[in-house]
Amino acid sequence: MGRKFFVGGNWKCNGTTAEVKKIVTTLNEAEVPSEDIVEVVVSPPFVFLSLVKSLLRSDFHVAAQNCWVRKGGAFTGEVSAEMLVNLGIPWVIIGHSERRLILNESSEFVGDKVAYALSQGLKVIACVGETLEQRESGSTVAVVSAQTKAIADKVSSWENIVLAYEPVWAIGTGKVASPAQAQEVHFELRKWLHDNVGAEVAASARIIYGGSVNGANCKELATQPDVDGFLVGGASLKPEFIDIIKSAT
Ligand code: G3P
Repeated sequence: MGRKFFVGGNWKCNGTTAEVKKIVTTLNEAEVPSEDIVEVVVSPPFVFLSLVKSLLRSDFHVAAQNCWVRKGGAFTGEVSAEMLVNLGIPWVIIGHSERRLILNESSEFVGDKVAYALSQGLKVIACVGETLEQRESGSTVAVVSAQTKAIADKVSSWENIVLAYEPVWAIGTGKVASPAQAQEVHFELRKWLHDNVGAEVAASARIIYGGSVNGANCKELATQPDVDGFLVGGASLKPEFIDIIKSAT
């Protein structure tokens, strides 16, 4: 069976109640391919998760943008995987480069977080990606492979993981990876999974691209054989997110 196209909207640290309601209304009114064709997941900030979940159409799903690395307790400011499960939130984004780079989350910590979230029944969008410096020094594949290995070392199943390749230099910069650049890294990631995890996981795991995806560039990126969807930042706050969902067909 083919890999179902996946489109995630990462709203990051944006939005007021009114803005969030407006985005949800736009999504609810959109005519998009059915759930059999494309899986749509939007990721509002924690404080809006319940609101969005309660208002959002039932064929779209909700993700948190992070969760704590182990069982909740005395960890001020954190949100546990158990709480997300309790709220009925099915997905969580883990290892976004903004957390790796600004909050110093190591690959090992990210691997632990992915494993704990999975153990609690969450599905995970796990992010990897190289900086501009790493790309220019020719270490892109080594960097994303090491980040993927840190996850693979901690998990026993990839069934509930979507791997998001997000080159840091393309995030929020308007500098999108070319379809060939995205395909090259996605191919290498799939090969890494093949050689290190197994042929079945490599064939079934969805590898999505993130970094300045918009309504104009999504179509061509979506035609690449190893690009199974997108994780969208800025454009997920705008009506053009609908066009990105439609690039599934
Ligand atoms: O997680 C999505 C992301 O980091 C890409 O952001 O704004 O470049 O689409 P943006």
